[in-house]
Amino acid sequence: MSSADTRAVHAGRDDLVRLGVHVPPLDLSTTYPLPDVTTGGDSYEALATGGLPTAGGSHVYQRLWNPTVGRFEEALAELEECEQAVAFSSGMAALTACLLAAAAEGKRHVVAVRPLYGGSDHLLATGLLGTTVTWAQPGTIADALRPDTGLVIVETPGNPTLDLIDLADVARQAGDVPVLVDNTFATPVLQQPVRWGATLVLHSATKFIGGHGDVLAGAVATDATWASRLRQVRAVTGGILHPLAAYLLHRGLQTLPVRMRAASDTAGKLAAWLQAQPAVSAVHYPELPECDPLQLIGRQMSGPGAVLAFEMADGYDAAAKVAGACRLITHAVSLGGVDTLIQHPASLTHRPVAPDAKPQAAVLRLSVGLESPDDLRADLASALTAAVTACA
Ligand SMILES: Cc1ncc(COP(=O)(O)O)c(C=O)c1O
Repeated sequence: MSSADTRAVHAGRDDLVRLGVHVPPLDLSTTYPLPDVTTGGDSYEALATGGLPTAGGSHVYQRLWNPTVGRFEEALAELEECEQAVAFSSGMAALTACLLAAAAEGKRHVVAVRPLYGGSDHLLATGLLGTTVTWAQPGTIADALRPDTGLVIVETPGNPTLDLIDLADVARQAGDVPVLVDNTFATPVLQQPVRWGATLVLHSATKFIGGHGDVLAGAVATDATWASRLRQVRAVTGGILHPLAAYLLHRGLQTLPVRMRAASDTAGKLAAWLQAQPAVSAVHYPELPECDPLQLIGRQMSGPGAVLAFEMADGYDAAAKVAGACRLITHAVSLGGVDTLIQHPASLTHRPVAPDAKPQAAVLRLSVGLESPDDLRADLASALTAAVTACA
């Protein structure tokens, strides 16, 4: 098999030379011609129940299937070393589909480990989809399982404090219950959760996969059985990805390894620098030994990634001041783009999380982009100075 860098460039493009084109065609059709009523009906039946298109059949309707979306799915599945992938209109639509697919099998209970992205935490905690959740520690997953447990859900590195979880241990504890890993922060460049026993690998593709802050999308890489279930949920509930978004994500995959390496390199430099700042009381970054007690970096994950979090010694007021005082770095939610973003999780991305599980008020999350490390350091230095002055 060729290297991951090569696969990122070429995955989902095997037929381009035969088609006589250099970049994938973009198919925006919402509807497709039907060869005849019987074939059209058979195609509809197959696609609406989670099947894939067949030779001589019709794609029928964009909500059931689209070739541009299919190409992106094929490429992502290859990078995640999964049989198939299913793309959605957002990461939350992807998580919703997983929960609904498990519930359709009569499994409405979820075991989940915090921290998770605040929106995922919120969806599970409210039980909006008719599911219930037991929050477990990484070591107590087995104890939390019930006969109706349909999924074990973990995020590693976790949002926002980059907590790492040993996936092989999670899979061992989960036994027959499928493990869903949110791989948004690591991307398939740094971690392939199926290697460690995960069944479902979820992405907010809005983040590193898109990489430029201009696409909202989600995806789940998994086996053929789960992919079929998820396509059925998607066809019926309509959380489909727009083909133009899929085109951009497929293009984004080509530069993902290079972007991840460059941004991770800068994140490591900033983490080391932040550690030396008196105004900063703690830094969370997977490369720091205290953040990786199980030594998962280099084993489960090939590198630490491009997101870090840090805590201000003077608490919430100082954190709020730093977020507002950055100039080159944009004060905004989301992550994984070419430009660096800073945000205050307790107020924003993790606002709906229960008080006892919410990130501390002193914590800021930094998604490191592709700017020069020196320029980013200078911006952070002046923002820290502004915070120290304001809190003096
Ligand atoms: C780790 C993680 N998972 C899932 C999501 C939800 O994805 P989306 O915003 O694409 O719906 C996010 C969003 O920030 C996230 O950070």
